[in-house]
Amino acid sequence: MGCEDEKVSDWGKSLPVPSVQELVRNDPRSLPQRYIQLHGDRPVVPDMAMASSSFDIPIIDFALLAKGDEDETRNLDLACKEWGFFQIINHGMPEEVLLKMKAAIAAFFELPLEEKNKYAQDGNDFQGYGQAYVASEDQKLDWCDMVFLITLPHEIRNLKYWADTIPGFKNAIEKYSKEAQKVAEEICSNISLLMGMDKDGLKRSYGNTKQAMRMNYYPPCSRPDLVIGINPHSDPDIITLLLQDDEVPGLQIRHKDEWVLVKPIRNAIVVNVGDVMEILSNGMYKSIEHRAITNESKARLSLATIMIPYDELEIGPMECAVDDHRPRMYGNMKYLDYLRYTFARKMEGKAHLDNTLKIKSSSF
Ligand code: OGA
Ligand code: NI
Repeated sequence: MGCEDEKVSDWGKSLPVPSVQELVRNDPRSLPQRYIQLHGDRPVVPDMAMASSSFDIPIIDFALLAKGDEDETRNLDLACKEWGFFQIINHGMPEEVLLKMKAAIAAFFELPLEEKNKYAQDGNDFQGYGQAYVASEDQKLDWCDMVFLITLPHEIRNLKYWADTIPGFKNAIEKYSKEAQKVAEEICSNISLLMGMDKDGLKRSYGNTKQAMRMNYYPPCSRPDLVIGINPHSDPDIITLLLQDDEVPGLQIRHKDEWVLVKPIRNAIVVNVGDVMEILSNGMYKSIEHRAITNESKARLSLATIMIPYDELEIGPMECAVDDHRPRMYGNMKYLDYLRYTFARKMEGKAHLDNTLKIKSSSF
């Protein structure tokens, strides 16, 4: 084991929980108490066929953005300020790369449990097949199984968690990871420009980054009105790219106090601003609470690709984002301490950001 493994372990660990997929495989009507949400936390399950909701999240044409189109840059600014979420089309990621990535995730979850368990989270490690954010035996659990892998830079991959028995698994991640990194960097360059810096301004601030993937499998549930696929949270990263199922909706974001369903657009990528971006931009760009709901008939797959700084980075608002009109909203904190804080407790919306770095007397 290299020292990087030890650092990954330092993030903290999640208590082991049963596979939800296996629960459903054994008894489709099974609904253990630990998954039944308290009344106020239960979702109102929208009519998925209609996928109706009162809002649609913004759509950004990535090709226009990359060309420096002013209108599209303005749209990105509004999307990050008012929604914290948007979908990108024309992102240039080949359809084949997306399809192979989805097929690799599907193939993994189709493996028998004992095969999947060969890649299970090991001891203190956060990576592997299992669950995240489980801090106590009595907290309500997600109706979800997941795999977490660090994918970039290459040197810190821990291949023992990569399902090498699935043909093409590694190759699919390799290709997708590279494409996703290009897209994430281009978006950050544009946000840099929007913050009044040159395009490398943000990158200079957060330094080298790591990329990790969270592969989610949400089994169908006989009572989708009682469970939550992934509990409300904001992502503790710089930026997230979410590849979601083209057919089965489930992602909801909190917008103007309503849960808005993100309607899948074929081959589009959902992008969201993470906590680190919110902090660097001194709250100008918002890391928005989101969750996933389940449905009665179809399993849903998704892939969150996250861009995170190195553990040692001191995160805090950038100089250019603080002035008399926008006083400093957050203190400074080492990224590792922030991550540890978030991983040590159940996800509770944005409580981790509010309880750590947010300056309480802020007038915003
Ligand atoms: C995540 C996440 C939402 C989804 O993995 O962080 O928010 O729709 N996923 O799977
Ligand atoms: Ni998320």
